[in-house]
Amino acid sequence: MKSRTTLFVVSALLFILTACSSPVAQSTDTTVLRLAHNMNQSHPIHQSLTHFAEVAEEKSNGSLVFEFYPNEQLGSEREVIELTQTGAVDVTKVSATALESFSPVYALFSVPYLFEDQDHYYEVMESEIATDIYDSTSENGFFGLTFYDAGVRNMYTVNQPIKEPEDLAGLKIRVQPSETAIQMTRLMGGAPTPMGFGEVYTALQQGVIDGTENNETALISTNHGEVAKEYSYTEHAIVPDLLIFSKNRWDSFTEEEQQILREAAIESSQFHKELWAEEINHSIEAAKELGVTFHEDVNKDAFRELVEPMHEQVRNNPDLTPYYDRIQKMSGGSD
Ligand code: GCU
Repeated sequence: MKSRTTLFVVSALLFILTACSSPVAQSTDTTVLRLAHNMNQSHPIHQSLTHFAEVAEEKSNGSLVFEFYPNEQLGSEREVIELTQTGAVDVTKVSATALESFSPVYALFSVPYLFEDQDHYYEVMESEIATDIYDSTSENGFFGLTFYDAGVRNMYTVNQPIKEPEDLAGLKIRVQPSETAIQMTRLMGGAPTPMGFGEVYTALQQGVIDGTENNETALISTNHGEVAKEYSYTEHAIVPDLLIFSKNRWDSFTEEEQQILREAAIESSQFHKELWAEEINHSIEAAKELGVTFHEDVNKDAFRELVEPMHEQVRNNPDLTPYYDRIQKMSGGSD
């Protein structure tokens, strides 16, 4: 209910903003696009989205300009996806996990140990499998334009290294609001607590949760490392971030503008790929200074075995099997 009211208020505000800004847009011959996301401005994804906006602006000779709403200003990932469906937001970056309730195929990305390693992940994300998945929501008001590396997800807690499944027993672990993430955490041995990313720091600080799971940048850009001191390389998932675009808005652009936006998206994805490796190293070093310990000696085989039923489920789901098989076929470079 709260979420619907928020959605209504945000949509109404954006409508008023549009009404006020359109005469300016017409007189200067520019089109303003609203770009929302849930990370703060110090996060690498903000830099890559800024790069996307700058490239599009430059290629369009200044006719496509972007208005940024970072930091969950317009709501959680789910709320912003809904705003993108209605066209109140034009473009947003969200985790693939947040998309599974809009198109079931996205659940695949949250299936633990889906990808063998980062090379396998990149191979899939740069193939037609990814573009087929991006188009799966076109009837639903939006589609995917490109992906951004969001690293490897690992468990981290306030004070408990997670090396074996027993170490997770009874621990409240924040997960993204997704059935797949909930099931995964349960099978791995923890007690899943779904919530939006913006609530995690306070929840850790107040002891509402014992830990969470994410890539290393969260330790620094969102300060989780101030509270959570034990980071364990469970490497249970590699989930991409996606740039999604409102379908109605997209259809209102000329082919030339669409081409510019596509090129800018791909360029920003490449920019992000390079930036990401540096940012991970920087986050690890900075987190060590905060007193975070990184644990490499994790029994991943034990976790892998526990989540095997999720792979079985996917293999028995006729909507997901074709994608799953294509992804598996690619591992080890056999495709
Ligand atoms: C990652 C991911 C984000 C996502 C976040 C989360 O940081 O890049 O898109 O929102 O995880 O756990 O919610």
